[in-house]
Amino acid sequence: MFAKEIKKISKEIQNKLIEIRRKIHQNPELAFEEYNTGKLILNYLKQLDIEVTPEVAKTGVVGLIRGNQPGKTVAIRADMDALPITEENNCDYKSTIPGKMHACGHDAHVACLLGAAEILNRLKDKLKGNIKLIFQPAEEGVGGALPMIEEGVLDNPKVNACIATHVWSDIPVGQILVKRGPIMASPDDFEIVIKGKGGHGAMPHTATDPIVIGCQVVNVLQTVISRKIDPLSPAVISICYFHSGTCTNVIPDTAVIKGTARTLDPELRKRVANLIETTVAGIVTTMGGEYEFKYHYLYPPTINDNTITDILANAAVKIIGSNNLIWGNEPSMGGEDFAYFAEKVPSTFFRLGCGNQKKGIIYPIHNSKFDIDEECLSIGAAVLSQFSIDYLNT
Ligand code: NI
Repeated sequence: MFAKEIKKISKEIQNKLIEIRRKIHQNPELAFEEYNTGKLILNYLKQLDIEVTPEVAKTGVVGLIRGNQPGKTVAIRADMDALPITEENNCDYKSTIPGKMHACGHDAHVACLLGAAEILNRLKDKLKGNIKLIFQPAEEGVGGALPMIEEGVLDNPKVNACIATHVWSDIPVGQILVKRGPIMASPDDFEIVIKGKGGHGAMPHTATDPIVIGCQVVNVLQTVISRKIDPLSPAVISICYFHSGTCTNVIPDTAVIKGTARTLDPELRKRVANLIETTVAGIVTTMGGEYEFKYHYLYPPTINDNTITDILANAAVKIIGSNNLIWGNEPSMGGEDFAYFAEKVPSTFFRLGCGNQKKGIIYPIHNSKFDIDEECLSIGAAVLSQFSIDYLNT
């Protein structure tokens, strides 16, 4: 139902979506600073006569389209924030702010959702149920999803299902990737402070060397994944920071080690956190030191609901054809705070192809040369719209 109309409207608004994306791209704003991006969204939705709530979780914006008949409510979420990177592309819509860039394509996500808003708004007389448009701040780092949920974004009307997309340059424009089950990992981090006893480098027996203890900790942590975790359950521990000492002949008092731990399963997540701490405790105390350990549970793993994912796959085929639908096998060990929405309501998160080898659009997200083939904007808008209508009709 509606696929023809959706495709027609998405083509009609394609240039407008490109214009919006470029405007946001030129004026990137970092996490919880998305004031102008929020204003642009607010004005666009108001122009369409869509009900809007600004300043949700500081800079977030929420729109609501009420269908002609009562029914369920589906939410579409787009993140809005840029990254602290200086853009190295030479296009005419390049970022105008040094040190800030939409290098993760969240400008494209906003344009796709505004496109879906326009398509669904034009069809609202024929809709059964509601569509909530969630423009979320601060996906990078601190996280805007949880504060939005805490401020009630999933209530009034109560949201029954949720969808979001992320541009992906490994996938050619025109295609999308869907996946059942886990799609993104929990990107937790941890900090270990090893306390020894400083002394002269010439007399190590009078000191307790935190660097040697730290080296053991780093080595043995490598065996947590390889020896303690089922090889068929993905998990990562990476030590990315090891700082200690000031010169060549002084054994320092402390060493500080930091890293990231990632899993795709809530139970395994807790187990990995415990294994890291017990490993640290065993080594440090055996070697005569003391330690402080902090583990930060950041975003949960993003786990797609199978039924919702199947509805998306069927909807996507109507827009892009079955040849352009990829069923993904492997999740990414990257993190994504859409996970909080997926924890609360059945949800699905899919990858929107934005790559184009011929045009040189090959750089990955978070790269200073990242770009998208803007053809993906109308495709994203159309797929999100078709999914929403199909879900409301289930
Ligand atoms: Ni991103």
